[in-house]
Amino acid sequence: MPITILIGAQWGDEGKGRVVDWLAAQADIVARYAGGDNAGHTVALDGEVYKLHLIPSGILHSNVVSIMGNGMVINPVNLVREIQALRRVGVEITPERLVISSRAHIITPAHVALDKANELALGDAKIGTTLRGIGPAYLDKTGRAGIRTGDMLLDVEEFAEGLIAAIELSNEDLRARALEPLDAQAAAQSYLEAADFLRPYIQDVSIYLYKALKAGKSVVCEGAQGTLLDIDHGSYPFVTSSSPTAGGALTGLGVGPLYVDRVLGVAKAFSTRVGGGPMPTELHGAIAEHFRGSGANFWDEFGTTTGRPRRCGWLDLVMLRYAVGVNGLSELMLTKMDILSGLDELKLATAYEIDGERHEYPPVTNEQLERAKPIYETMPGWREDISNCRSFGDLPAAAQAYIERVVELCDLPIDIVSVGPERDQLVMKTAAPATPVKLRNL
Ligand code: IMP
Repeated sequence: MPITILIGAQWGDEGKGRVVDWLAAQADIVARYAGGDNAGHTVALDGEVYKLHLIPSGILHSNVVSIMGNGMVINPVNLVREIQALRRVGVEITPERLVISSRAHIITPAHVALDKANELALGDAKIGTTLRGIGPAYLDKTGRAGIRTGDMLLDVEEFAEGLIAAIELSNEDLRARALEPLDAQAAAQSYLEAADFLRPYIQDVSIYLYKALKAGKSVVCEGAQGTLLDIDHGSYPFVTSSSPTAGGALTGLGVGPLYVDRVLGVAKAFSTRVGGGPMPTELHGAIAEHFRGSGANFWDEFGTTTGRPRRCGWLDLVMLRYAVGVNGLSELMLTKMDILSGLDELKLATAYEIDGERHEYPPVTNEQLERAKPIYETMPGWREDISNCRSFGDLPAAAQAYIERVVELCDLPIDIVSVGPERDQLVMKTAAPATPVKLRNL
């Protein structure tokens, strides 16, 4: 298993963190390749809940090296905070266990301020970003005006000068919009402290991975966000600014395609979305509430990063089929199957009807997507609590039929289904062991 790419097959929040945690048990390296602290990956372990925003979920395994790739945008101050918070609960983080690309881009306080200002200016048409400065940081990257993590290895004065100049430039923009400018000197100070802390962790990730792959190491690429939020393949402009799809893993880490032997898609057994943009199977009312939960549990459908309630709906096979194609998935994993328990019937959107025409794949414009009427297939639900099921045969017949129908409609195998947040709450179709072979050393 040289490289396994794991991607979100929907609008993010598919439960990728727990899947990466499971895959990491058999891997040497876990590498994130896109996004920044807009992500929120939750891993539940022995009653503890770990919420990771920047650091790959592999960090919870003592034998795994975690990598942050060049495709990411990193807020160094928030990264230092995350490292320190993990250390406080006993997770060992050293430059041997965490490697940060020297080619990732830095999110400055100006990016965060501009993200907020842009959303404000859009009013009702806002994207609903996480307000972490993601879009403005990628804009500076592609506009060739960004500051990179490798710049933290430079002379301190030079790094500070670049940062202050970037903040002052954004201040002009903020003033023009009658918004409060930032204190560039104070911001630079906190970034210099973070740079001091992070310097030993920074190196060329592409070369690191090349050597590791040549030496026979296995790598899990941990996708953030999801296919339908991809800058190219999502419902633009209601997307993030990076490439969470499988192709993004290669450019976001600097590795070649010949090492990839598995592309695993993770999808929830229903649909959720945070922020604006079309969502054809969105529900309002009792069933949406059933999917969302009350917010009392960490697995309820409220954003890990923003706390916003997520929009909920039936599983959308039109979107899922699209994600299968865009990523070239080799298999699919369904999460949160247990949440479907207790409903009399379940619906699967198998196609859309737009202006009297049947669509098997999503149309390109949001205008058409907003008008798309899902064509549903109704299946019987089940009442049983399935959270203790561990094999496919333990599941009620209706749950087995639901999974089989998704397999047929996506033309892809589903061998693993999650039925709860804990590491062992997995249903395996085959007799493969669910228990990780390596244990975390906390
Ligand atoms: P941004 O990535 O903060 O610019 O937000 C752009 C869009 O992507 C918004 O609709 C966000 O809600 C959504 N988004 C970004 N990160 C995540 C995530 O990790 N999970 C779900 N949605 C996300």
